[in-house]
Amino acid sequence: MALLEIKKHGCPVLRRKATPVTAFDGDIKALVEDMFETMYEAEGVGLAAPQIGVLQRVIVLDVSAHNPSFQPVALINPEVVEVEGEIESDEGCLSFPGLTGDVKRPLKTRVRGLDVEGKPVELQASELGARAVLHEIDHLDGILFIDHISALKRHLLRGALRKLQKEGEKQSQAKRIVELKAISSRP
Ligand code: NI
Repeated sequence: MALLEIKKHGCPVLRRKATPVTAFDGDIKALVEDMFETMYEAEGVGLAAPQIGVLQRVIVLDVSAHNPSFQPVALINPEVVEVEGEIESDEGCLSFPGLTGDVKRPLKTRVRGLDVEGKPVELQASELGARAVLHEIDHLDGILFIDHISALKRHLLRGALRKLQKEGEKQSQAKRIVELKAISSRP
């Protein structure tokens, strides 16, 4: 298991669309384990693979701290089957540390996906569970929670957003430097 670096707002990978998983092998199991470990370490309730720089349709969720009947789950290639109702609540994201905003989301949802073995799984969730799974599925399409908050609220948050964006941009530059080093060290 390994802790992975969570990409911050401003890192371009967060805006890209992830591709479906086709191979259900040891790599996907290791990815899911690392994602759970990274999510728990960051005290989050959900994490999507693009947030650790992997453009594959994989999410992990655990809202059991708020809803004891919720079982931690990894969903691969998740699809929203049904949504019901609407509720506005404060929402955050591990890619936006320290920043939250009110977001309207469905109260309940039903989502289908695959587990690490490639077997079908269905998740029925409400309130925080529904919010978390829909938030993470958004990440797979490059959609961030700030896209759902009002323009006014976004305007009020602009200072904090700009600061985060610089951090995220630095992360992607750091990666580029490592890649360039790797290229220049080739014989
Ligand atoms: Ni997020």
